[in-house]
Amino acid sequence: MRTLRALIVGKGGIGRELAKQLTALGWSVVFSEARDRMFDFVKEVENADIVFVCIPTRDKGEAAYQYITYALAAGKCVVTAEKGALAYHFESLRPRLPRIGFTATVGGGSEPLSMFSSLGAPRPKKINGFVNGTVNFLSWCLSQGMEPEEALAAAFEKGMPEKGATTFFQVFNAEIGDILMKLAVLVNVSGVCGKYSITPDCFSTFMLYEGEVLRLLSNPRLRFMVSMSEQRVGMQSSWQVYANVNGVHIVGAFLDPTEHYEGKIIPAQEQNSLFAEDYLGRSQEKWGPGAGFEPTAGVMVKDAKRLIAVHGIKE
Ligand SMILES: NC(=O)c1ccc[n+]([C@@H]2O[C@H](COP(=O)([O-])OP(=O)(O)OC[C@H]3O[C@@H](n4cnc5c(N)ncnc54)[C@H](OP(=O)(O)O)[C@@H]3O)[C@@H](O)[C@H]2O)c1
Repeated sequence: MRTLRALIVGKGGIGRELAKQLTALGWSVVFSEARDRMFDFVKEVENADIVFVCIPTRDKGEAAYQYITYALAAGKCVVTAEKGALAYHFESLRPRLPRIGFTATVGGGSEPLSMFSSLGAPRPKKINGFVNGTVNFLSWCLSQGMEPEEALAAAFEKGMPEKGATTFFQVFNAEIGDILMKLAVLVNVSGVCGKYSITPDCFSTFMLYEGEVLRLLSNPRLRFMVSMSEQRVGMQSSWQVYANVNGVHIVGAFLDPTEHYEGKIIPAQEQNSLFAEDYLGRSQEKWGPGAGFEPTAGVMVKDAKRLIAVHGIKE
């Protein structure tokens, strides 16, 4: 039996955990040194069975998109945790999706995207739930009476917030950016808007003042939810992100889950959950840790194993 070879782009929290998990499975692991020098990257790719992309989203995921498309052009399969490439370049990647593992781009270890390949109907009728582990966690901390600085420090200790943000307000706004990318990936992969695909640029976003963010996060009755359906949810004035695509209202807002979530409501902490129902009334739900190095890397390994089996990559 041959040793499988991984090329990992991005030596951060996810990349290092992934290397640990793959090595434990007997893979040989190399970190890319090319750093945007695509000529060097193409040479590195030659020796890999699977390329893993674990870099942050800058701009519109251009760097990740380059890594992904160069690896695919070399005939390799790719597994990515980066969201920007799929959120902003979905149409270009759509025909190449069978060679891409992207489960980790939405919901870390809770794997909500895995629901949509198995829903019987061609198109879900509604999707709703909680897709941002950091916002869930901050909301849970504040609603337990923790001070904002204490909650933020706890989130940083867990390595949860998007990189670059430091204050509470910056962290919340950066997570809204993350939610927009996840919404775009969810819409595009699930087909909830029919044949239409979207990018994060399709959304209107409504800024909140810092005091409002803290007040909403501290309210134990509210959680930040996303909803996609032909029904409008909540009051328009409460929406933080919104798009209407093909008659489907796509909303991100602080809502009361007892009124708006049809799945099982589990304590917030970092847990994500997503409920989906098709036009035949059949429903599915997924929940689990929404972020974190270990569960996210675990999902990437699972994707890699599936690609190896489907594409007959010899071990
Ligand atoms: N953390 C989670 O729980 C989680 C869950 C799901 C998905 N994700 C996604 O997974 C990705 C990685 O997350 P992370 O937490 O591992 O981030 P991270 O700790 O910030 O690590 C990212 C690594 O990528 C490197 N890098 C940045 N731009 C690069 C480029 N153009 N080419 C090569 N390397 C580059 C960085 O190097 P420098 O520091 O030198 O720039 C750093 O080593 C992100 O897109 C994130 O959104 C994370």
